[in-house]
Amino acid sequence: MILLTGGSGQVGRSILDHQSALSLPCLAPSSRELDLADRQSITDYLESHKLRAIINAGAYTAVDQAENDIERASAINSDAPATLAQYCKVNLIPLIHISTDYVFSGDKSTSYDEHDATHPLSVYGRTKLAGEQAVLASGCRALILRTAWVASPFGKNFIKTMVRLAQERGEIRVVADQYGSPTGAKDLAEVALTILPQLLNNHAAPQGLYHCTNTGETTWAQLARAVMAASASLGGSSASIVDIATADYPTTAKRPHNSRLSCVKLQRDWGITLRPWQDMVKEVVAAVLHEEGQTL
Ligand SMILES: NC(=O)c1ccc[n+]([C@@H]2O[C@H](COP(=O)([O-])OP(=O)(O)OC[C@H]3O[C@@H](n4cnc5c(N)ncnc54)[C@H](OP(=O)(O)O)[C@@H]3O)[C@@H](O)[C@H]2O)c1
Repeated sequence: MILLTGGSGQVGRSILDHQSALSLPCLAPSSRELDLADRQSITDYLESHKLRAIINAGAYTAVDQAENDIERASAINSDAPATLAQYCKVNLIPLIHISTDYVFSGDKSTSYDEHDATHPLSVYGRTKLAGEQAVLASGCRALILRTAWVASPFGKNFIKTMVRLAQERGEIRVVADQYGSPTGAKDLAEVALTILPQLLNNHAAPQGLYHCTNTGETTWAQLARAVMAASASLGGSSASIVDIATADYPTTAKRPHNSRLSCVKLQRDWGITLRPWQDMVKEVVAAVLHEEGQTL
């Protein structure tokens, strides 16, 4: 059995959709069955199942809310990965853990690689960084995939928000001075499902920290324009995108101005390169419009 946490989230659902790539069945307990905020709940669940691997896609992802909910964000993002990693270490099984670009400050002028110093600006970023560190310190066979700007037809994400706003407004003001690397939850799921069999079968498989995003980089405003173009081409609504500065869109948590991730190490060690982010956007927009019955 493989344990997948966060099975109801964007990445988790995408993993479940493609789990036929695995030779082993996948257990995806709800947050009530396995509460990552509760150490006892985690250990009870782990002790009552015979696991061959864990994929930890569960997290406290409400970036702004986390600023005022430090204890819970810390339990889910820092303590839970530590508990899962400890179990993996003791039971000699591999762990795939998902982390975030928000571990960086954004001060670098080029893309970040795995050796760059971390300096999170938010509670979310700090708690996710502590989770990574706990996984690495445990000494278990782990692969951490740091990803960014995740989108899918499920749950809450920027692309879905833009599609919805385009139906309500003629003009949308979007931050144009934050740079990042959009990532399809499906693309990330495929990476996890490609890597896991190798971790299971080959003890010499590469481990450690890897950046994993779609190829290319953009700003939120440019991403919004790509969403509008994709929507219009499919017969959906479209709105004008107006550039604004981060300062014009105050949020509770600070975000890095630059969180572009270099995925060279993933290509070098695993031969994996994700498709351009623009292709992912077209696919997600098409799926969102299709679900809403908006396509031609
Ligand atoms: N979304 C992004 O833009 C982004 C960017 C960079 C990195 N990441 C990372 O990618 C991973 C997946 O993110 P996502 O976008 O798929 O997140 P998501 O859609 O917000 O889903 C989060 C998942 O975590 C689960 N979860 C939350 N609290 C839990 C708890 N106490 N016990 C058990 N499960 C709990 C949720 O279950 P419930 O539905 O039951 O609450 C849900 O399945 C996370 O590690 C995240 O930090 C995401």
